[in-house]
Amino acid sequence: MAENDARIQPLEERHKEDALFIEGELDRRLDPELMGGGKMAEAIRYSVLGGGKRIRAFLTIEFCRMFGGDIRDAAAYASAIEMVHAYSLIHDDMPEMDNDDMRRGKPSCHKAFGPSVALLAGDALLTYAFETCVLDFTNNDRMNRYCVYELAHGAGVAGMCLGQELDLQLDCPNLDDLKFLYNRKTGALIKTAAMLGYYAAVDRPDPTVRDKVYAYSMALGLAFQIIDDLLDVESTTEELGKPVGSDDRNGKKTVLSFMSIEEARAEAERLTDYAAGIFADTASSEYICALPQYLKSRRK
Ligand code: IPE
Ligand code: IPE
Ligand code: MG
Ligand code: MG
Ligand code: MG
Repeated sequence: MAENDARIQPLEERHKEDALFIEGELDRRLDPELMGGGKMAEAIRYSVLGGGKRIRAFLTIEFCRMFGGDIRDAAAYASAIEMVHAYSLIHDDMPEMDNDDMRRGKPSCHKAFGPSVALLAGDALLTYAFETCVLDFTNNDRMNRYCVYELAHGAGVAGMCLGQELDLQLDCPNLDDLKFLYNRKTGALIKTAAMLGYYAAVDRPDPTVRDKVYAYSMALGLAFQIIDDLLDVESTTEELGKPVGSDDRNGKKTVLSFMSIEEARAEAERLTDYAAGIFADTASSEYICALPQYLKSRRK
């Protein structure tokens, strides 16, 4: 192991490389002509291709690699999860939800294109994600069905949409309920991203491994949202590329409604340490094991 370490790329470089790869895939798949060449197409490309850390795509690609697949095996699924994520952000920023005017360092989609185009761009991205999943997969038909199910489950009635509904109710009474909400609004798509990578690589899922992927990604997802809450109070709009103070302005309950900044940091640390240990004994797990620490210290 030690003698191989020198040949392992730093995580930051690997992340950049994967992000570039997936941006190329998204660019190609989101062909303006295919999308009618109008305002909706423009809004879709503006929202998907204009920045973003590509953490979900990274999870899909790196889980796929860790389990023996390659980046091509992950391409359609990693594109799909970024499309669903971008749709969730477009709708999340609209006045009926968080009413945020900036995203990824630019005017939010509804600010740039108006609400009706923003709604449609989100709708079209969600549906196109499923089209993408069934168009050019390299895993077997059964595993492809698992992937389609996983994406629907993460995004939908019991996943991200449910989390967003609970988030909008503004009445979360305690930390356990807030974690339930976070596991859905954010955790569900992070979990889906990881699971898609695993399913892209294998011929059939092993329940023990699937449980580990689940445990890793849910811990990571919760830590990710806790850090998002911290950045909302500690960062700057310039650095974050989205308005800080949004949660307070909207009367949102966040982890900071139930604990101090120090306690929230400690909770994020506990979760990321736990996630980092889950695949410590698994071969080729360097990037998956290093990612939690990397995300814990993110500045945007
Ligand atoms: C923002 O996600 C929404 C949350 C779930 C907190 P990201 O922080 O991954 O957003 P991008 O894709 O990098 O813009
Ligand atoms: C949103 O959480 C998660 C989504 C499902 C989009 P936030 O509302 O805190 O995300 P940001 O801070 O706007 O990115
Ligand atoms: Mg929100
Ligand atoms: Mg928001
Ligand atoms: Mg936030």
